[in-house]
Amino acid sequence: MPENVAGPADSWWSNAVVYQIYPRSFADSNADGIGDLQGIIERLDYLSQLGADVLWLSPVYPSPHDDNGYDISNYQDIDPLFGTLADFDRLLAGVHERGMKLVMDLVVNHTSDEHPWFTASRDGGPSGDKRDWYIWRPPRAGMDPGTPGAEPNNWESWFSGPAWTYDAASGEYYLHTFSRKQPDLNWDNPEVRQAVYAMMRWWLERGVDGFRMDVINLISKDPALPDGIMPEGARFGLGHPYYVCGPRIHEYLAEMHREVFEGHSRQLLTVGEMPGVTVEEAQLFTDPARREVDMVFQFEHVGLDEGPGGKFDVRPLKLTDLKASLGRWQTGLGETGWNSLYWNNHDQPRVVSRFGDDSPAYRDRSAKLLATVLHLHRGTPYIYQGEELGMANAPFTSIDDFRDIESLNYHREQTALGTDPATILKGLRHRSRDNARTPMQWDATEHAGFTAGTPWIAVNPDYVDVNAKAQLSDPDSVFHYYRRLIELRHTEPAITHGDFHMLHPDHEQLYAFTRHNAASSTELLVIANFGGADLTVDLPDGWEDSDTLIANLPATSPLTSTYTLRPWETRVHRRSTA
Ligand code: GLC
Ligand code: CA
Repeated sequence: MPENVAGPADSWWSNAVVYQIYPRSFADSNADGIGDLQGIIERLDYLSQLGADVLWLSPVYPSPHDDNGYDISNYQDIDPLFGTLADFDRLLAGVHERGMKLVMDLVVNHTSDEHPWFTASRDGGPSGDKRDWYIWRPPRAGMDPGTPGAEPNNWESWFSGPAWTYDAASGEYYLHTFSRKQPDLNWDNPEVRQAVYAMMRWWLERGVDGFRMDVINLISKDPALPDGIMPEGARFGLGHPYYVCGPRIHEYLAEMHREVFEGHSRQLLTVGEMPGVTVEEAQLFTDPARREVDMVFQFEHVGLDEGPGGKFDVRPLKLTDLKASLGRWQTGLGETGWNSLYWNNHDQPRVVSRFGDDSPAYRDRSAKLLATVLHLHRGTPYIYQGEELGMANAPFTSIDDFRDIESLNYHREQTALGTDPATILKGLRHRSRDNARTPMQWDATEHAGFTAGTPWIAVNPDYVDVNAKAQLSDPDSVFHYYRRLIELRHTEPAITHGDFHMLHPDHEQLYAFTRHNAASSTELLVIANFGGADLTVDLPDGWEDSDTLIANLPATSPLTSTYTLRPWETRVHRRSTA
């Protein structure tokens, strides 16, 4: 690393913790059943008590809500469902008053099909001046336009079905890697890029502290848009090689950095959501010397319980796979790259149900264990609303319980293919994004204190026992455990700076690693029993006199060469290496 460039571990955000708010499900102030900005304002003290440094807001812009706001029809306003720009300014002021920062969701791989850019592009026809702002192509030669197989290429949408929709008026198709109401912008057009940068500057001038960039590594498409490989028996091809980290992606992110962030006086945070990104690519994206983004969200570890049938084909997680993957990211990014650390977000099922044990006996304990393992890695941790309470997956019993477009499309597609209904429902119950979107559980009153009306999606009935109010008054709660983990990240340099060394990589039940920080002569040992049985482990020498930094159970003995971990027990110890 050149001497004049600081490594990512020296950045202000290296000991920050980000809290993600999914506004629709967070807190409803006006009883319409949908969370809103005023609801968030009323809960800022809670977030500040937790100790979050940065809040990331999922989209609150005007939207037809085909994909819950990830389909934006106006980038420079607030959807009336959530409030007004004046409410937004009050929220931002409230966040800043409490010493926190606010990061917006930036969804610019695509807009809504109701965005004026798209309606102009569509209605102006092939020679219109906004035509080239989106990706339009004629039907496949020799095919009947609008019929199956006539799409310009064989790519599949991430939400099932073809990635192209036919516009009969102009005789052409537009590309949408997500729903048909989410047409992809054409980033190869410099006017598009400048319009996006201008909009981003507008938000920064308003006072926001950065952006979480939705599927940002999909913005550069191979201009030839070649057919993807057809897996055997599939109806669509895999277009990913032609647009995941496509040909001009680094050029565009570096340009965005120059045009929007360069020389900015405030401390900002940028995180690129990047499905399919490799460690090698991520290192390039996050190397501070390259000035692209501060960190990325990668997806490898949340795909490890997927079977050959894709995301809804759920398999038990092998702990060795999880350690191999996260361990490779820890060491692979080296000194010049930086990780985002997450188990949960608005697209993932709840981690305590997925990788922990949500039965009453071990729910809190396994939630604390998962938190410990994640927060002790090198990188910036993200907490998704309710994770700090150990919120679990929803007990969905029928397709009528679901709201998410991805789940509903999948159900429709699989039903048409004749898949066994119980199998479809099982996949959805485990993996549907709606698991993350049930309302935040504030207290034990009706609808968990989320709304005085009827919630847009049912509250998890376990709110009676699992809620913020109960946990705030219990010093042993998952909430207070998360609070302590955040505090530790603020105060223990080995968490931020320490190198990472995995122990026992082949063990199927033990997750163990050390973090050594030469500068402060401290070393941390993290041990975690991923299972419901006692586990006697061999430990490295020299830990018997160490201090307990945090643990989810009191120690039964000093950490001598062997120690017996109880079910889902985790411990973090610290010693001096001076
Ligand atoms: C991202 C978002 C997801 C959304 C998709 C399309 O993956 O996290 O919620 O559906 O992009 O915008
Ligand atoms: Ca509301």
